[in-house]
Amino acid sequence: MFFLKILQITGFPLTNSKWLHMSDPRYCHYSETIEVPKPEEEQQFAEIASRMKNISSLMSDRARHAARSVHAKSHGLLRAELTVLDGLPEPLAQGIFQHGGIYPAIMRFSTVPGDILPDSISTPRGLGIKVIGVEGPMLKDHQGEVTQDLVMVNGKAFPSPDSAAFLEGIRTLEKHVNDSEAFKQIVSTAARTAETVLEAVGTESAALKGFGHPQTNILGETFFTAAPLRYGNYMAKLCLEPASQNLKDLKDKTIDTGSGHSALRDAVVEFFKTGEAVWDLKVQLCVDPETMPIEDASVPWPEELSPYLTVGRLVAPPQDAYSAARRLYVDEILSFNPWHGLEAHRPLGNIMRARKQAYAASSQFRHETNGRQISEPRSIEELPA
Ligand code: HEM
Repeated sequence: MFFLKILQITGFPLTNSKWLHMSDPRYCHYSETIEVPKPEEEQQFAEIASRMKNISSLMSDRARHAARSVHAKSHGLLRAELTVLDGLPEPLAQGIFQHGGIYPAIMRFSTVPGDILPDSISTPRGLGIKVIGVEGPMLKDHQGEVTQDLVMVNGKAFPSPDSAAFLEGIRTLEKHVNDSEAFKQIVSTAARTAETVLEAVGTESAALKGFGHPQTNILGETFFTAAPLRYGNYMAKLCLEPASQNLKDLKDKTIDTGSGHSALRDAVVEFFKTGEAVWDLKVQLCVDPETMPIEDASVPWPEELSPYLTVGRLVAPPQDAYSAARRLYVDEILSFNPWHGLEAHRPLGNIMRARKQAYAASSQFRHETNGRQISEPRSIEELPA
């Protein structure tokens, strides 16, 4: 009964018999002992952070400007508003979602590489969301701030299970930083089409296969935290899914990336000249730590055991989605980081712990190199029009 009530409140399709057998899920409670750090992981985290910083350093030497070690190229920078649904049932009413409310937010769409490649080299996508005006006990290094970041990619799970595997990928990427754009184009096209071609061009790793992505409009994507977060008393993964028809229409919609260096950005700017976008913010609660592991981020949590349920709505009105002033502020001053947020949304598991040092090192390097101050907004008015 209890679960049926949640489904009703969140508008879940009750007529779908797939969900009806789940009348009594046992949501796993968060406790500090849920995380099981590996003895060798701190050393891996330090090496990841240092190699990623080195990637930034090699790129910045080439570009005469420092950018993020990964997700360097932004494609849309939005002012948005998050409405947290009122009256959520207790398992969903946690952390920032504890009470209904309205928060301003900043969104940054990106693609994975650490260099600013033409969009014809089509790669997986990311989204940083910064919710402003959040109150409550913050994570240790975020005290005094009023922001909660949600950092997402367009995949339900992370490609690497743990920091050891991720480190292998980073070592490979580091070796290929100075490969020519022509080579990266070949790898990206090959990764989209046939693995055999990839092997034929002599690349050595799954890290480079990750360069391939269908050439679709970035606004049609659903984005996921992929790795878990504490969700107050519970644990969860989150996602942001297109809700308005104009976004749904863009799912898998091919765009002509040959038409310019910034086809993705141009498509976003065009959309927001007149369009309003609405997304559902959804939560998937952990109901079984065996099939929904905390320490292995490469496992998609089975949705038949625990579906994603809507807890909020994000709306972005028509706007200039990429003004020069806004690019300067969001790309250069801000950073989106899963460790920016409430203790109630502590990032969980080995991959999340690995991100802490790496994001700090990348951000510090680019801010220092470009002579910028690291700063978190206290108000949406700090985002230029
Ligand atoms: C071992 C795992 C990971 C490491 C070491 C890592 C590292 C990094 C670093 C160093 C940055 C640049 C930060 C900056 O300069 O501000 C970054 C950005 C980003 N990462 Fe990760 N990452 C990891 C996993 C993930 C995962 C699991 C996701 C999402 C599900 C993700 C999504 C993003 C996004 C969207 C950005 C761009 C943020 C922005 O717009 O400022 N990363 N990552």
